Amino acid sequence: MVLQTVSQKKSRRVLRQRPRVIWHGLITFCGIGPRHLFLTHWRGDKRPDIHVPDEFCQAPKTMSATAKKTAPLPDDIVAMKGKAPIVSLTAYTTPMARLMDEACDFVLVGDSVGMVLHGMHSTLGVTMDMMVMHGKAVARGLSQAMLVIDMPFGSYEEGPDQAFRNAATIMRETGAAAIKLEGGTHMAETIAFLVTRGVPVMAHIGLTPQSINTLGGYKVQGRDDAGEALLKDAHAVADAGAFSIVLEKVPATLADKITAEIAIPTIGIGAGAGCDGQILVVDDMLGLFTAFKPKFVKRFATLGDDAKVAIEAYAEEVRARSFPASEHTFSDKAPSR
Ligand code: KIV
Repeated sequence: MVLQTVSQKKSRRVLRQRPRVIWHGLITFCGIGPRHLFLTHWRGDKRPDIHVPDEFCQAPKTMSATAKKTAPLPDDIVAMKGKAPIVSLTAYTTPMARLMDEACDFVLVGDSVGMVLHGMHSTLGVTMDMMVMHGKAVARGLSQAMLVIDMPFGSYEEGPDQAFRNAATIMRETGAAAIKLEGGTHMAETIAFLVTRGVPVMAHIGLTPQSINTLGGYKVQGRDDAGEALLKDAHAVADAGAFSIVLEKVPATLADKITAEIAIPTIGIGAGAGCDGQILVVDDMLGLFTAFKPKFVKRFATLGDDAKVAIEAYAEEVRARSFPASEHTFSDKAPSR
């Protein structure tokens, strides 16, 4: 991942990267080919300086050599299991990504973007182009949190070849460190295929919104006898090589059992406090998405209400001609120095 910015130039940025992640950083993270790169030096254990054109770079322009931490890799997320709770949120835009970069261990560009930002009724209409576009936007806002991007409905279910082709597109275009896909046992073969070809996979079981039409709605999954099948799904994706599993809307006791039995971290959303980490849709927790509120969402702010009040105040002032005031207005004389 990008580690430190050592200088910034107009058209390109110099990055320092650890030797072990050079190629990961060059090709996967920045989503660029060798033609964009220029190694300025490579001496013993010294880190090489790598010149990367601005438009490809994940790091925001304000990033400095004093950045507190570097973005973790999937292995670092795995290593957090049993040590520290893993913090994550979804993001779909650069400004929101910047706001959460320092606080989160990873940021997910979820296909929830379809419902949250595009007003869709489900995630089924989300396309590869949308995921790549929002993925690029979020990448520009991150330098400290790992970037994970959802594979949209229809981009991976046909089989391993289709999944690899589209996962590679997402990683190449956005620089994401990993992808997420929905499904348990039936996706194990695809997960193994991706992982052995360099695509870290975050699995997602329980309520899988892309299967809403076969699940019969946004119901709690894994209750009663269904718990055994979900436990098997968790083992199947872990054995296939997934580096973590999102558990959505499952009973807390089942999530605890899965968390105890599998070696990779569980990331809960509506799965209780016993998971190795938590994720929420950022617009839900900020109170920006108010169409409905699932039980598992806690609103940590009411930004939607605040925005409405501000917009109404603006409209009132425009109609009253009290905005713009003199301090927002230019005179015809240049100000004296
Ligand atoms: O699409 C999404 O935002 C997700 C999270 C809710 C885990 O999959």
